[in-house]
Amino acid sequence: MGDRPAPARRRAGWGVALLALVLAGCGASIPESRSQQVNDGDPQFGEQALIDYGCVSCHHIPGVPGADAYVGPPLDRFGLRSYIAGSLTNTQPHLVRWIMSPQAVEPGTAMPDLQVSRQDALNMSAYLLGLE
Ligand code: HEC
Repeated sequence: MGDRPAPARRRAGWGVALLALVLAGCGASIPESRSQQVNDGDPQFGEQALIDYGCVSCHHIPGVPGADAYVGPPLDRFGLRSYIAGSLTNTQPHLVRWIMSPQAVEPGTAMPDLQVSRQDALNMSAYLLGLE
């Protein structure tokens, strides 16, 4: 009789261990929400390119004059995002790929291929990843 609570305690212990495992698993697979690394590109040229290519006609982009449209998702604090369009992890190479060929990443997406050059995409990604 005296040792009756013991099994309950053991179960609780397992629960905690399991929770810890699940949390550890999440930590390993979900990229941390923090500023993303920018290795290349010039954010100032990027800002101009966002205007020149007409990105501003669909996106709200902080700091870019005229970028106040909500056809596509707002790009606020993009450097803190974990994913691009819900499908690619948010790294600079992935962002360049998305900007250059969104249709290849997500066939049928409402974002058009805009024939963006690699250098312009790099510059734009440097600008967007700098948004915190
Ligand atoms: C015709 C409107 C349109 C134009 C022009 C456009 N986009 Fe988009 N964009 C979208 C839409 C719609 C989505 C959402 C796509 C999806 O999730 O499938 C999107 C998604 C994005 C995303 C991912 C957003 C997120 O929340 O993950 C980025 C980054 C982006 N666009 C950057 C750009 C850049 C840079 C340009 C200019 C080269 C541009 N877009 C031009 C409509 C547009």
